Amino acid sequence: MECLLTIFLGFISMLLFCMFCSRKRKDGEPPLIKGWIPFLGKALEFRKNSQQFLSQLQQEHGDVFTVLIAGKYITFIMNPFLYSSVIKHGKQLDFHRFSDSAASRSFNYTPVQSGLFPGMSDHIQRSYSLLKGPDLDLLTSSMMTKLQQVLRCRFLSSEESGSDGDWQEAELYEFCKCVMFRTTFNTLYGHSEKLCLDQLREDFEKFDGIFPLLMARVPIALLGKTKEIREKLIRFFYPQRMEEWRAPCKFIQKRMELFQQYDTLQDRDKAAHHFAMMWAAVGNTIPAAFWCLYHLISCPEALEAVRAEIISVVGEKNMKLIFEEDITITRQQLEQMVNLESSINESLRLSSVSMNIRVVQEDFCLRLGDQHSINLRKDDIVALYPESTHLDPEIYDQPQRFRFDRFVEDGKEKTDFYKCGQKVRYYLMPFGSGATQCPGRFFAMNELKQFVCVTLLMCEMQLSENQQEAMLDKSRAGLGVMPPVNQITFKYRTKKPGDNMKREE
Ligand code: HEM
Repeated sequence: MECLLTIFLGFISMLLFCMFCSRKRKDGEPPLIKGWIPFLGKALEFRKNSQQFLSQLQQEHGDVFTVLIAGKYITFIMNPFLYSSVIKHGKQLDFHRFSDSAASRSFNYTPVQSGLFPGMSDHIQRSYSLLKGPDLDLLTSSMMTKLQQVLRCRFLSSEESGSDGDWQEAELYEFCKCVMFRTTFNTLYGHSEKLCLDQLREDFEKFDGIFPLLMARVPIALLGKTKEIREKLIRFFYPQRMEEWRAPCKFIQKRMELFQQYDTLQDRDKAAHHFAMMWAAVGNTIPAAFWCLYHLISCPEALEAVRAEIISVVGEKNMKLIFEEDITITRQQLEQMVNLESSINESLRLSSVSMNIRVVQEDFCLRLGDQHSINLRKDDIVALYPESTHLDPEIYDQPQRFRFDRFVEDGKEKTDFYKCGQKVRYYLMPFGSGATQCPGRFFAMNELKQFVCVTLLMCEMQLSENQQEAMLDKSRAGLGVMPPVNQITFKYRTKKPGDNMKREE
């Protein structure tokens, strides 16, 4: 009883302390929304449905406001015309310090900017050039081979074991996870007979499921077996093991060499860095692959247009050969597929909710366009929230609808989007913004295109009847592409030339 009373009194004094000592809005600062729960502030409402919560605050307080979320004061900039003011202030509004601290905490490595590894952060940034330009051609060609091997094997083996003649049935997200995890991993990290990628994927999925809580700073000790699973995932990437893997891509080789140069970097830390990169490389690409295929097979007109485009670029002959031998689809050919690219962009517009976060380095006054400016405090966070732009009915007509050709105009990529008669520069931001944009974005776009191409060249697909539409798992809002919350089954049958003849007979 005495103990309960002490806890109760402690809670009341904490509440009173927070009420009297908590932050007050100063002149020139944006409207401040703190909620009544000390420390947590508006965290629960934000987590429940961030888009709805922020739109409501925008209606009440205008385009810029500060919200207390889990101990952090976050100033949201909700108007895309103001984004450039934030993006160009890289010095006072820093991204790398935030990502280093969040990533080192979540993946459990010593922060790169801890002072122990001079120059490493710059070297890491430079290594990202190996994900574009001529090196992207190599990655693309390697990915193409792996996708064909994995998909051929998958389709042919399910055909053999199939019982209902032509059509097979499978769960769509599981299919995407299985194919994209293996192919992306092998393309980046190489291969070895000893690797058990199914187990790695299972552990990755468990860790990834808890990831939003780690990012929300919930102590890992409270998260069941997460710590154990994270250690297992890190152990997978120990340098001695990685040295045995054949043909890793140049980007991963460069990172291995780079880490080797730092005596201060322990093997465990090196492994944790490689694990973090794997997470970055598959964590968003897999759900993105799901939404691309899902939207295409949900919309016959889109599926037909994209399939016709793929066949016209790749050629009927290659289509017929794809079950016999590896065909090539070059990076240049992928660039010609405007309908496919638009479908992927449209899927990303509808499913990506990545907050663009910057940490205020010093107290300063941020000019927002010609009209006004706001005072910001050191260590506060400034966040762009592109989902509000992605779903803005003034920019995108019927924003909730998937329109495969939304980003096509006169047979080319459409880049002109308007709000109140003014051209919007940042109309689509699944990969972040400015200098901190995702360095893997070119590879990711190519992978997604290749995945759709090879899948559609190899088989016909349909959604199974009588099921709910796929819905987004909003609990991951802010962290990238949201996965589906419900299971979706689809039917497929291979397009082997022999099979078509058999069917016609
Ligand atoms: C559809 C797939 C992908 C999406 C939507 C995506 C999205 C993002 C976003 C939003 C960021 C943060 C950028 C910012 O806040 O300004 C990011 C960072 C990053 N992404 Fe991606 N990404 C994808 C695929 C990939 C792939 C395939 C790779 C690697 C091969 C990759 C590697 C990275 C890395 C290393 C960072 C951190 C960069 C840094 O800290 O400087 N991403 N990504």
